[in-house]
Amino acid sequence: MSNLKIAIVGAGFAARVVHLPGYEGVGQPVAAICDLNQDVAQQVADRFSIPTVYGDWQEMIEKEQPDVVSVCLPNALHHEITLGALDAGAHVLCEKPLATTVAEAREMFDKARETGKIVMAAQLYRFDPGPRALKRIVDSGVLGDVYHGEANAMRRLGIPTWGKFTQKSASVGGALFDIGVHMLDQTLWLMGSPRATHVSAVMSKHFGTRPDIAAMRGNAWDPAAFDVDDFGMAFVRLEGGADIILRSSWAAHIDTDDFSVRVLGKEGGITTNPPALFHFRNGVPADEQYLNLGTRDRHAAQIFSFLRAVRGAGDLPVKEEETMNVQRILNAAYRSAEEGREVAVEH
Ligand SMILES: NC(=O)c1ccc[n+]([C@@H]2O[C@H](COP(=O)([O-])OP(=O)(O)OC[C@H]3O[C@@H](n4cnc5c(N)ncnc54)[C@H](O)[C@@H]3O)[C@@H](O)[C@H]2O)c1
Repeated sequence: MSNLKIAIVGAGFAARVVHLPGYEGVGQPVAAICDLNQDVAQQVADRFSIPTVYGDWQEMIEKEQPDVVSVCLPNALHHEITLGALDAGAHVLCEKPLATTVAEAREMFDKARETGKIVMAAQLYRFDPGPRALKRIVDSGVLGDVYHGEANAMRRLGIPTWGKFTQKSASVGGALFDIGVHMLDQTLWLMGSPRATHVSAVMSKHFGTRPDIAAMRGNAWDPAAFDVDDFGMAFVRLEGGADIILRSSWAAHIDTDDFSVRVLGKEGGITTNPPALFHFRNGVPADEQYLNLGTRDRHAAQIFSFLRAVRGAGDLPVKEEETMNVQRILNAAYRSAEEGREVAVEH
């Protein structure tokens, strides 16, 4: 990879574990990183050989004039800083969920159009070898009419122990925004991105408010101040008559974590974990498991595809309308849970 200038805003988990290993994996140097906590930024800069560290994102963007900005900040800041980076002439790879409201997401894409730049939501889970292979299987039409999707993002005991995930003021949503979004995006993408029309959802806090559970996680958050969902379930109606069941949890009494997607059609069904196709061959139930898909690194794959689109050498892998569909469903789910009834998604 060559002479694009990359800058990162936020030096936390997403920068360290997702974006920087991705840039490193494709051999793309990063010019600068910024964090309110400059000591943390400096440590990350040392680890990833980043020459310049800032404590203020505006100063960084002004001085560095980057071609690309990775936004790795708590959800409530995605909108403001993405707009600032686009205004300064940068393309933006922004962490998920792209925004906290449909209006924010709309504004981010409008700004990208106005400035002639790209904004992409970092939907990392699309870049694993399994889902990519399954996408080709589904697109071949072998499932026939697709009528149902199932998105599971279930952790047994995985309330985040860092950052501001458990605070509504910084993250706006809890488990649904944190992990449900990944599996929802993957399910819709595998189903061919049908638009959502209605959502009926419930959201609850079964574990995060409990002192005994906080103690099991090293008292990493204050249970009395825990004010986001740690469980959510949504039923999504899609144009054309298909539907999705989505479940997200940061804690649940289950045997093991379950990050999986199912897509069912009249002629076949797929599941991602492990990647497999189920159908009838000559009147016989046939199971095809895909065991030789390689070990492609999703972090590098995400950055590779994004930068290829930035250079104009390939399609954007996560498209505006797909991300808007996801955002509409997320926000409709919270609205439905609040109102206690099915709601139409906001278009
Ligand atoms: N794709 C994934 O697998 C994945 C994993 C974790 C987090 N995320 C997403 O990444 C985002 C960040 O999560 P995280 O886990 O990195 O959180 P984090 O708390 O570890 O890191 C966020 C960093 O942003 C810094 N920050 C806050 N406000 C700032 C500002 N105004 N200017 C500069 N720096 C500022 C904080 O000091 C902190 O270091 C969230 O949207 C989250 O959903 C994605």
